[in-house]
Amino acid sequence: MRNIVVIGTQWGDEGKGKIVDLLTPHFNIVARYQGGHNAGHTVVIGDKKFILRLLPSGILHPETTCVIGNGVVVDPQALKAEIAELETVGINVKGRLWISSRAHLIMPYHRAIDIASEDALGDGKVGTTRRGIGPTYEDKISRRGLRVADLLDPSFRQKTLANLNTVSERLKGSGHNSSDDKEQYDEFFQAAESLTEFIKDTTYFLNSAVKEGKNVLLEGAQGTMLDVDHGTYPYVTSSSATAGGAAIGTGLGPNKINGVLGITKAYTTRVGSGPFPTELNDEIGEHLRKQGNEFGAVTGRSRRTGWFDALIVRYSVMVNGLDTIALTKLDVLDQMPEIKICIGYRLNGKEITEIPSTASALEQVEPIYRTVAGWQETTAHIKDYEQLPEKARDYIKLLEDLVQCPIGMISTGPERDETIFLPNQLMKGWLM
Ligand code: GDP
Ligand code: IMO
Ligand code: MG
Repeated sequence: MRNIVVIGTQWGDEGKGKIVDLLTPHFNIVARYQGGHNAGHTVVIGDKKFILRLLPSGILHPETTCVIGNGVVVDPQALKAEIAELETVGINVKGRLWISSRAHLIMPYHRAIDIASEDALGDGKVGTTRRGIGPTYEDKISRRGLRVADLLDPSFRQKTLANLNTVSERLKGSGHNSSDDKEQYDEFFQAAESLTEFIKDTTYFLNSAVKEGKNVLLEGAQGTMLDVDHGTYPYVTSSSATAGGAAIGTGLGPNKINGVLGITKAYTTRVGSGPFPTELNDEIGEHLRKQGNEFGAVTGRSRRTGWFDALIVRYSVMVNGLDTIALTKLDVLDQMPEIKICIGYRLNGKEITEIPSTASALEQVEPIYRTVAGWQETTAHIKDYEQLPEKARDYIKLLEDLVQCPIGMISTGPERDETIFLPNQLMKGWLM
């Protein structure tokens, strides 16, 4: 049994898509367990670039079965479009994609509520992807949501339209009207209809597969600091992005999960509002953005950039129970004459090494940096650890020490083969 969770350790966009795609041939099934099409997971294969939003990042491998677990929120229109996009390049998902009957549906009115509530927050907005993710999870927890299984109910259309009455209350005064776009609902019902062939009780499916000895890669979306419990609340997404969410979001018991791989960027980025202690609003930040192509895969928004924050990643190691880390985008630092790493915070004149639990306190901390010399040589495309410049190896070792977790993989470019596998017994066991 080798069921492994792959998870982002910062604020998302760490390179999960690349790593999940790369590891997929070692697994039978890739399952998403939370989030929705707020995710944007990039996979680059030669001159082709795929951005996966709801579909698991294993989908490009034709032998792999992919599951959208019960913890995911599904927008039928977005999913239909994503499936169609893949079909145009010859990738067929029929017969190997299953959507949990227990997953919740993002309805067109959820999008309207997301946009309206963000607009109402003014300066205090979260900066959501405006795709209806939060309002759908709200309805799930409030026990008034509609689930994928409801699509099969002959009264589905009726139930949806009935919900519009209650929703109009939530939109009052916002200038938005959920029901005035009838075409939107026609399209929604059509898309919903087209998904029926993919619906399965994936909880039984996954558990039977594991019983038969199949191996499952559980793909996290977002990142630890966007987790609704463990992240920088309220500047978070509305699901459990951390490793614990994998059990909840698939129905595989925690004792069926054997390991957790964290994906960590060699510096830090964040999209949307909220505290970001090591943020660089200067030419260095601009350099990282340009060099790392740090623009949102989903919304195209410019990503905020900053130095590596060891406190954030160490916290991630703890709350996810990380066994090992894949360090990505090392090459983005290649030209830096010097590199800073945050090793502590100063808060109200006191030095701290733990993350405060409130966003307002994290907003106030002043980072304490250790500065190291950059390598100023190219690491891009390197596949062999020994070929890395000595100073790059020193940087990796320092990060390992600071975050208290071994680094098992290093990524030096967006492509599959731009990867270094370190001699790591655990990884070896996972990738048999
Ligand atoms: P995800 O959401 O965690 O899957 O990450 P995204 O796909 O949103 O963002 C990561 C971006 O970095 C994508 O454009 C990837 O193609 C790219 N990428 C991944 N790994 C590397 C790497 O090691 N070096 C460079 N230069 N780019 C990378
Ligand atoms: P991947 O999987 C980066 C952020 C949004 C916003 C907050 C809440 O590609 O790493 P939401 O629409 O989820 O209610 O927005 O979360 N966010 C992400 N940031 N990468 C992501 O996904 C994100 N998904 C959501 O920018 O700040
Ligand atoms: Mg992304």
